[in-house]
Amino acid sequence: MSRIYLSPPDINQKDRSAIESAFDSGWVAPVGPDLDAFEDEVAQRLNRNYACAVNSGTSALHLALLALDIQPGDRVICPSLTFAGCAFPISYCGAEPIFVDSETDTWNMDPDLLESAIEALLAEGNKPKAVIVVQIYGQCAKMDSILSICNAHQIPLIEDAAESLGATYQGKPAGSFGDLSFLSFNGNKIITTSGGGMLLGNDQALVEKARYFSQQAREPVLHYEHKAIGYNYRLSNLLAALGRSQLTDLDNRIAIRKKHFEAYAQSMGHLPGISFMPISSEGIPNYWLSCMILDGSKTKVSRDDLIVICDQASIEVRPTWKPLHLQKVFQEKQMFGGAVSERLFQDGLCLPSGSSLSDKDREKVISTLSNALK
Ligand SMILES: Cc1ncc(COP(=O)(O)O)c(C=O)c1O
Repeated sequence: MSRIYLSPPDINQKDRSAIESAFDSGWVAPVGPDLDAFEDEVAQRLNRNYACAVNSGTSALHLALLALDIQPGDRVICPSLTFAGCAFPISYCGAEPIFVDSETDTWNMDPDLLESAIEALLAEGNKPKAVIVVQIYGQCAKMDSILSICNAHQIPLIEDAAESLGATYQGKPAGSFGDLSFLSFNGNKIITTSGGGMLLGNDQALVEKARYFSQQAREPVLHYEHKAIGYNYRLSNLLAALGRSQLTDLDNRIAIRKKHFEAYAQSMGHLPGISFMPISSEGIPNYWLSCMILDGSKTKVSRDDLIVICDQASIEVRPTWKPLHLQKVFQEKQMFGGAVSERLFQDGLCLPSGSSLSDKDREKVISTLSNALK
């Protein structure tokens, strides 16, 4: 019995041919025509003028912070309900992450709490140097409010669209907001380069500064000249070829993931104590992961029971993100609010959502969960 995974890489013969062609071209290096073309194609899709492809979303965020000149001791605001890779780069810079809770309409950063956090930090004389907004589980945050708060306070915004390539907000693509934005092409994302990421923006100077740091801070001279500490963060041309091939399938993948979400919601959304991630009318998600919430007081089994039952049936399901303010490594950090992300972590379950998930396997997931819940 083969295991059903949450969001495995979806790769095919076309991807293999793309990598082989790049291999045969001789550009087996973190430079080459596929790398340039991948940057252009993603930038075009996201209405961005400039892009820098790198080896992970985490390094893209690190470069964004370096480009914005984040220094030790600076405050950087970030949502709590997200992956740790969204906050670790703040610590790489020696800066202080300040966490903000989610709202319940999209599970993303609550704009009212963002405003409170900024005001509290201003009152302490610690104006935040940047805000990171995350588009979680494939759905955009309340970008209008978040952008207007950041603009009013003149605080640069970094948009983490790692999970949300292909989603839109008021018709504009996820990844097109903020002074800088970034994507992840990790193996579990909607398209993959096995591991990879991309930083995007419309300000050429900012993106070029990031590119400079990603290439070991080499000065533009023939010998190796360095005036700053650099990083080796560029994506391989071979992997960019894979990314280009994957990108052509993006819209099809969104349609398949949406079908999974709708099948789960239709077959289980009516069960007592079960609800699904709300879909805001302000945007269209890419349905990266289908997430459901269990109200343990109304269901026969708990969220954790379901994880065990699924595991025994060879189905991978996972709790929603553990909020960063509850992580040991960040427990001393400042947090604004907390009840929403704590509840989502306690009761949330992510279901198999990959674009290679067959209808038959999805039916198995539904019957396993429904039988346990009924
Ligand atoms: C919201 C979010 N931000 C950042 C990252 C980091 O990306 P990467 O794994 O490519 O470093 C991820 C996931 O992987 C993520 O889900």
